[in-house]
Amino acid sequence: MIDLHCHMLPGVDDGAATLAEALGLARAAVDDGITHALATPHVHIGRYDNDRDRLADAFGNLRRALIKERIPLRLGLAAEVRLTDDIPRLVEEEQLPFIGEWQGDWVLLLELPHSHIPPGVEQVFAWLARRNIRVLIAHPERNRDILRDFKQVLPLVRSDCLLQVTAGAVAGHFGAGAERRARELLTRDMVTVLATDAHHLQRRPPVLAAGRIAAEATVGESRSWDLVQYNPASLAAAHFDFPICMHSAAVAEYS
Ligand SMILES: [Fe+2]
Repeated sequence: MIDLHCHMLPGVDDGAATLAEALGLARAAVDDGITHALATPHVHIGRYDNDRDRLADAFGNLRRALIKERIPLRLGLAAEVRLTDDIPRLVEEEQLPFIGEWQGDWVLLLELPHSHIPPGVEQVFAWLARRNIRVLIAHPERNRDILRDFKQVLPLVRSDCLLQVTAGAVAGHFGAGAERRARELLTRDMVTVLATDAHHLQRRPPVLAAGRIAAEATVGESRSWDLVQYNPASLAAAHFDFPICMHSAAVAEYS
C-alpha cells in the first residue's frame, strides 16, 4: 500500500520529534503493509515555518537512515499545507512540494482549519485551478463544520477538490462522528485516497490496513484497494518512478 499523508520527517512539525521516532514510524508502516510513503510535514506559516530547503535537508537525512537501517520503505517528500493567506505567495515562490499529478494538474495536499470551512475558500481553489493546481483536502471527515452538517462538504466537491480521508477514521479510531462522515463520503464515491496522517507511534500510529479493511465493508474489495494502492500510485507516480496509471497489481509487483 501507498501512504500519501504522514508526519514522519523528524523535528519539523508535531509528528516524529527525533530520528529514532521517525524510524519507529517507518518500521510500523512497513509492518502495516505500506511499501511507499510520502512524508507530508505541515507548512503553516507562523506555526511550522517549513521551507523547501529545510524540508529537503530533513528528508535526505531520513532517507539515508532508512537505507542504513535496512527499512524497506520507499519515501518521497511533499507537504500538508495549511489554508492561509500565504498560499498565493508560497505558490509563486515555488515553496510548496506537490503530492503529484492528477488528470494533468499538480495536486496540493491542503489542510482546512479544524474548526470550520472559511468563507470564500472557493476563490482560493479557483486561483489555484487557474495555475493548474488541484487541491486534495486532508481529512474532511474531521472538520467540525462537516461533522455538524454533511452538506458542508458539497462546495468542496463542486470546486473539484479531491478528498483524502484518514484510514483510521473509517476504522472508528477518531470517534463515531468521524467514522459516520468517512463512510458517507465513501458511499457517495467522493474519496480519492485513504492515508494514515500518522504522527506518533502510540498516539497516531500509521494505520492503513485496518482502514482499507473497514472501507471494504462500504465500497467493496476492489474499490478499497483503489483507495490505498491504485489512486495513490497514480497521484504520486513522479515521486516513485511509477508509470502513470499503473494497474494496482503491477504496483504490487514493482514494489
Ligand atoms: Fe496531517
